[in-house]
Amino acid sequence: MKNLWWQTGIIYQIYPRSYQDSNGDGIGDLQGIIQRLDYLKWLGINIIWISPIYPSPMADFGYDISDYTGIHPLFGTMEDFDKLLQQIHQRGMKLVLDLVPNHTSDQHPWFIESRSSKDNPKRDWYIWKDAKPDGSPPNNWLSVFGGSGWEWDEKTGQYYYHGFLKEQPDLNWRNPKVQQAMLDVMRFWLDKGVDGFRVDVMWHMIKDDQFRDNPPNPDYQQHMSTYDQLLPVYSTDQPEVHDIVKKMRRLLDEYNERMMIGEIYLPIHKLVTYYGIETKEAHMPFNFMLLSTPWQAATIAAAVDEYEGLLPKDGWPNWVLGNHDQPRITSRVGIQQARVAAMLLLTLRGTPTIYYGDEIGALDVPIPFDEVQDPQGLNMPDKNLSRDPARTPMQWSGEPNGGFSTSKPWLRLHRAWERQNVTLQKEDPYSMLHLHRRLIQLRQKEPALMHGNYAPVFSDHQVLAFRRYAEGDKSFLIVLNLSHRPCYFKTDNIKISGTIVVATLPELEGTAVEDSINLGGDEGVIVELAYK
Ligand code: NOJ
Repeated sequence: MKNLWWQTGIIYQIYPRSYQDSNGDGIGDLQGIIQRLDYLKWLGINIIWISPIYPSPMADFGYDISDYTGIHPLFGTMEDFDKLLQQIHQRGMKLVLDLVPNHTSDQHPWFIESRSSKDNPKRDWYIWKDAKPDGSPPNNWLSVFGGSGWEWDEKTGQYYYHGFLKEQPDLNWRNPKVQQAMLDVMRFWLDKGVDGFRVDVMWHMIKDDQFRDNPPNPDYQQHMSTYDQLLPVYSTDQPEVHDIVKKMRRLLDEYNERMMIGEIYLPIHKLVTYYGIETKEAHMPFNFMLLSTPWQAATIAAAVDEYEGLLPKDGWPNWVLGNHDQPRITSRVGIQQARVAAMLLLTLRGTPTIYYGDEIGALDVPIPFDEVQDPQGLNMPDKNLSRDPARTPMQWSGEPNGGFSTSKPWLRLHRAWERQNVTLQKEDPYSMLHLHRRLIQLRQKEPALMHGNYAPVFSDHQVLAFRRYAEGDKSFLIVLNLSHRPCYFKTDNIKISGTIVVATLPELEGTAVEDSINLGGDEGVIVELAYK
């Protein structure tokens, strides 16, 4: 079977506000991304996913779209976009855009029309409901960003539903006209040559047709988001969502080798249903397991095995360590362990997604209260849920503002940018950046790692070990010490004999291993086995 570009490639997520500013307004833009394409090529990246770049009032930093087929002037023009796409393709890379079909901005002309009167033809494009007799919202559904999911519209005397901000009204996907309009949006970008979409909150797209109350979450704890007080069983992951995803997929299949990733936070047994029967839905439902699984070797090993075991036949795996909604991996597991995490991400079976900055070990940046911009942080200030810390400007160099911008960046940089940046790490063969590059190069050159098989080998309270192999090709043993203490690895499960080809501690590279492997705390190695 031929391996497709999204199976053999490595995805790199760019948060465009924070990647590279080219016009000195403190906000990253498309021309800035163009300037950095050679860096990405050098790193070995071949798929770029860019978070939303469309016109938007920016209530949720671009995830509130007011025009699906335009470019926000902050980011540039449609000419800039065309140039970006052309430059990406010229380098043999692919471009994946963010598609946000669940909701629009409240400033989108569709919603402006919809809220203008109860009999407007677009009224039914959104989710409007009468109040209960006592004036309260139609049901108990909550907004992910805090408070009720229902907003009262004084003028027309009804509530509308918003799973996120009130500035992000949910579209009514039961309306065929909405479906058609969004498929047309996809067509617009596909005709331009865009290679695929990352579909925002895919599992939210359609709601219970009876609008039943969500049940309480028995596991709710005070520190959690208020949204977690209820289990969203009626407001998300409805059976009908699969018909919509199928329609999107059918459209993609009219084109040559286009791809769709679904953003879906669900337990794995539910997540895998988004591949669809006979894999006719999302090419890759994002696998967020590594974001929430406790960082312990045996637990991670069990999670990997569970995922591998539940994947449908022909369902292609994928792995994620971070994104613009999550704390950075380096802050979660520590700088040393983040090197092990990178080795895990880039040696597991399936397409890896790297979040911009993770390749230099960027940390979450503490943002003072009076500088918080993320609505999730602002709406629930006592819960430490702001996503700003993981969205700070890329640390490129020791130039002012880390080489990100010639003026004050929209969000502050990490204080240590002068000594933690791409330029310095490029000069340092021991850096996180070089580790990423070596891992990427090895993965891209070795079929066993790129698309070979996966077999668990061993796990205990410290070590996670697995094998990657391809028929008639090389075989690799990956041994990761997920603890901070040294370990002595020996097992009867596999014959240990080979040479270390990449190590988190580069001094180990080229070393022969026989029978056992000794690792320091926070170390990992890839061993090319002496046998197939
Ligand atoms: C998921 C996106 O990743 C997040 O950033 C956004 O706030 C919500 N969807 C709403 O669009």
